[in-house]
Amino acid sequence: MQVPPTERASAVIPGGVNSGQRRVAGLEDLIVTATSGATFTDDSGRRFIDYHAAFGPPLLGHNDPDVDAAVFDVGRRLDNVGVGVTPVEIRLAEKLVELVPSFEKVLLTVTGSEATFHAIRLARTATGRKYLIKFQGCYHGWHDAVAMNVISAADKVGKKDPLSGGILPEVLDATLVAPYNDAAAVERLLDEHAGEVAAIIIEPIAHNIGAVLPDPGFLERLRTLATKHGAILIFDEVITGFRHGLGGYQKVAGVTPDLTTLGKAMANGWPVSALGGRSDLMEMFSTTPGHPAFFAGTFNGHPAMAAAALATIDKLEREPVHEHVFRLGAMARQGLVELYDRLDIPVVVSGYGSVFVTYFLQGPVHTYKDLLANDVELFIGYRRRLMAHGVFELPLNLKRSNVSYAHTEADIEQLLQATEAAVREMMDGR
Ligand SMILES: Cc1ncc(COP(=O)(O)O)c(C=O)c1O
Repeated sequence: MQVPPTERASAVIPGGVNSGQRRVAGLEDLIVTATSGATFTDDSGRRFIDYHAAFGPPLLGHNDPDVDAAVFDVGRRLDNVGVGVTPVEIRLAEKLVELVPSFEKVLLTVTGSEATFHAIRLARTATGRKYLIKFQGCYHGWHDAVAMNVISAADKVGKKDPLSGGILPEVLDATLVAPYNDAAAVERLLDEHAGEVAAIIIEPIAHNIGAVLPDPGFLERLRTLATKHGAILIFDEVITGFRHGLGGYQKVAGVTPDLTTLGKAMANGWPVSALGGRSDLMEMFSTTPGHPAFFAGTFNGHPAMAAAALATIDKLEREPVHEHVFRLGAMARQGLVELYDRLDIPVVVSGYGSVFVTYFLQGPVHTYKDLLANDVELFIGYRRRLMAHGVFELPLNLKRSNVSYAHTEADIEQLLQATEAAVREMMDGR
């Protein structure tokens, strides 16, 4: 008898998946065998319009032919060498410095977590200070300093809520958690720990809890507070970078942080990320011998990955990608508002550009605590039912959905029809 693939996976991979976010209740049997454009296909041949999009990288759509061609073209000729620098790394760095307002210098890493790790280490090196301020609901990767207080249970809000065992108490102590959109709370923390806060790190739009937008003036206030207190302001644009514009959300908001991290959509799904910012800070990295902030990585600046990023950026510059995904994102949000109006279900449809999410609660939404009112059963339940209608949104609480350049108006229409059918099924079952 043949052993089902998911059983084979669980026999040799703990939990059967390669990330703690991938084993989703109800989808334990999911084996993905192909991706293309706006879709993925499973091992029984079912094809889904993919609005999850791996948490956001394929902004151009899965397997973009231009990006993939660049990877294979450069990858055939130039492998990772591990000494010196390659022309493609130089071109990419020049491009990033040209595009991102806060970038005077930039270094390449592989994952978003590495970029935020180095940003925090650099801030501590530069300031000689210990504390870090992060926000409830924001995620900055898996490393100890930030792996806490993302989607917290109600009784954990206002306390330290680590995502993992094994984090030293000293490390937990050194990260202070503030409510998103609450500049007064940040000011209090800065006063309480005067002269001891190395950095404030924030997702300029809190996308790890869907799409909680910064209130007018909030990011500006953080900028002022960081400067006043000598703390480094880090914008984690791993999600917002490229997806919301070539200059990241900082260009949209007109607020320039000291350091910025990029990842996800940067190379349309190929693994590359970046950390950039003020030259005086970036120059502290040990990429200049003898400088104090240690920086290394075997795969950093891999030429084929740098080529993927350059090809992605080139397409974002040449083609009306942002115009397309912003238009379809707006169409989805507008359609969802009308749909829930018709169904007489109170919701907040939020998002920005190509991102959308429906919270099942009475608004407004300014901070994580507001999201505790979300009807989780409905949020997850309609998404599970969407699959029978050929549409995929990740059935995990508060997760956002993404439109790509490969999605069409017909895909959005199918999304809206499928959503209405799935939500009606949920309501009938209640
Ligand atoms: C805002 C943000 N920062 C950092 C990370 C970590 O990136 P990675 O998963 O590539 O390590 C993520 C991942 O979801 C993220 O959303």
